[in-house]
Amino acid sequence: MGTIRILEPNVANQIAAGEVVERPASVVKELLENALDAGASRVEIAVDGGGADRIRVADDGSGMERDDALLAFERHATSKIHVAPDLRAIHTYGFRGEALPSIASVSRVTLTTSTGGTHGTRVRLRAGKVLAVEPAPHPRGTTIEVEALFHNAPARRKFLRSPATETTHIAAIATRVAAAHPGIAFTLRSGERELSRLGVAPDYRARVAQIVGRSEAEALIPVERRAGGLRLLGLASAPSLHRSTAGDEHLFVNGRPVRDRRILHAVQAAYATLLPRGRYPVVYLFLDMPPEDVDVNVHPAKAEVRFLRPGAVHDLVREALLDALGVARPFYRLETTPSGLAEPEAPGPSGLAVGYTSVPGRDRVGAVGVPGDLPSDRERADALAGRMGGPELFDAVSLSPLAQFRDSYILASAPDGLVIVDQHAAHERVLYERLMAQRRGGGVPVQKLLFPVTLEVGPAERLAFEGSREDLAALGFSVAPFGENTLIIDEIPSLLPAGAVARLLRELLAELIEWRRPEGLERLHHRLLATAACHAAVTANHPLDAPRMRAIVTDLLGTAMPMTCPHGRPVLLRLSIDQLEREFHRK
Ligand SMILES: Nc1ncnc2c1ncn2[C@@H]1O[C@H](COP(=O)(O)OP(=O)(O)OP(=O)(O)O)[C@@H](O)[C@H]1O
Ligand SMILES: [Mg+2]
Repeated sequence: MGTIRILEPNVANQIAAGEVVERPASVVKELLENALDAGASRVEIAVDGGGADRIRVADDGSGMERDDALLAFERHATSKIHVAPDLRAIHTYGFRGEALPSIASVSRVTLTTSTGGTHGTRVRLRAGKVLAVEPAPHPRGTTIEVEALFHNAPARRKFLRSPATETTHIAAIATRVAAAHPGIAFTLRSGERELSRLGVAPDYRARVAQIVGRSEAEALIPVERRAGGLRLLGLASAPSLHRSTAGDEHLFVNGRPVRDRRILHAVQAAYATLLPRGRYPVVYLFLDMPPEDVDVNVHPAKAEVRFLRPGAVHDLVREALLDALGVARPFYRLETTPSGLAEPEAPGPSGLAVGYTSVPGRDRVGAVGVPGDLPSDRERADALAGRMGGPELFDAVSLSPLAQFRDSYILASAPDGLVIVDQHAAHERVLYERLMAQRRGGGVPVQKLLFPVTLEVGPAERLAFEGSREDLAALGFSVAPFGENTLIIDEIPSLLPAGAVARLLRELLAELIEWRRPEGLERLHHRLLATAACHAAVTANHPLDAPRMRAIVTDLLGTAMPMTCPHGRPVLLRLSIDQLEREFHRK
């Protein structure tokens, strides 16, 4: 008797659910996509308990006849493809016939549907087993209710975050799906609250404006370009609008929200000269191509795709953004180097070494270590030093500024060499450590804003705010709700400038969405204060007078970790006298 057995269908479905249904937001995504595939013009989403207790998605799409309503819960049952060649050109979101059986295997499902006749069908399932099929009234369309998600999958249930966090994920996914479908009306409710209501919008631009709020939408520039069979449409932020995370870089391929390393790289390349390092634009890019040019069947949650011509996609995105942003491309071909090379060689870091300042009697290691799983500042500095030529100790107690270079760098003389200081990174480090010290000291001194600032927020931002209001307060930000879609801020840390407070708050909210409180309070506070410090620090391309330069350098030397900014980027580079003398053949 052999030992290999074919798994029972329900066990197979639970295994598939492990891949397809990671959390309540994945269920919402699958149900939304089914509604869109059914040609809905209106979709209503309601959740309770972060979706773990209940998710209900109602659409006015095609609906199903009784037999199809039952078949929909069979594995590999789909109306969307028939034969293998169909897989090569998928025009719908769904194609596997996996979502409904997977979801049903780990929850209680009630599906009510009608194709528009006098009555419809209701199917009830529990843990994947059909309990009842009965006639039931329903207008044309489908309503699916998913309750007690993961009730029979304790391992999964254990990984669920707080209801507020799960609701944030749901809001984010619903918003993303809605962005790609301006012609469809969406509502999202959580418990008794309506989190979002998006009426039919005439085009992408109008839909994105509904999502980001009118004021930010004004800073978005239309992007449009075609090449070969590819078409890119979208919106991209002017250089004045940027974020501290890449969370607002939204990419859609044939209407499907995806993450793609290559496209993200193209975006970064286009903005390289426009944004400070470590800052990210807001983009909504809708890329359309013949379905046979893209393989959507490469990721269990369809979050990634594979392009037939990845290089062409990359170039299209980059070129389109450069055009839209009006960035002049460098004329490499006009430049020649003395050796006659057509293209200048990239200046390497050769000859420059990173050193540690060594202030006697002070233990700097771990003083402002970055908690959680991020590398500590020291580790980063070590890595950096390794990359750039080995850590060397030097005495920088008496670092004196000589001049400013390109309005961005302070050139300073150290007893044993020349030091180049990135003024923004240095100032950021100084402010960050001060804010951190104030926080540790039990209270960040605050200033009351003369004019409180209001900010229009989306559902994800509002939920993130609600989950972390006390953290903001502990760090010196007094923020309160002001109606359903607006926050009002009237107090900020004294160390920060009172200008551009709305933008700062927006950036803090982005951090709160990305870094969750239960996943590490220290890390969250680190991120928030690093963002605040970045916001307040002098920028590059900003002329500094001698006293200001001296103040920044002196303050920097007083910090525990002068080598890197709070985001881990280098603050100073050093050219030692020894190296100079070798380069000039004096040695
Ligand atoms: N809201 C809906 N309205 C009409 N038909 C639906 C709806 N939801 C599901 N169906 C039908 O049920 C079938 C099974 O849905 P399911 O989501 O499991 O698979 P799929 O969408 O075909 O593929 P995938 O697993 O890739 O999502 C669909 O092919 C469709 O015919
Ligand atoms: Mg589906």
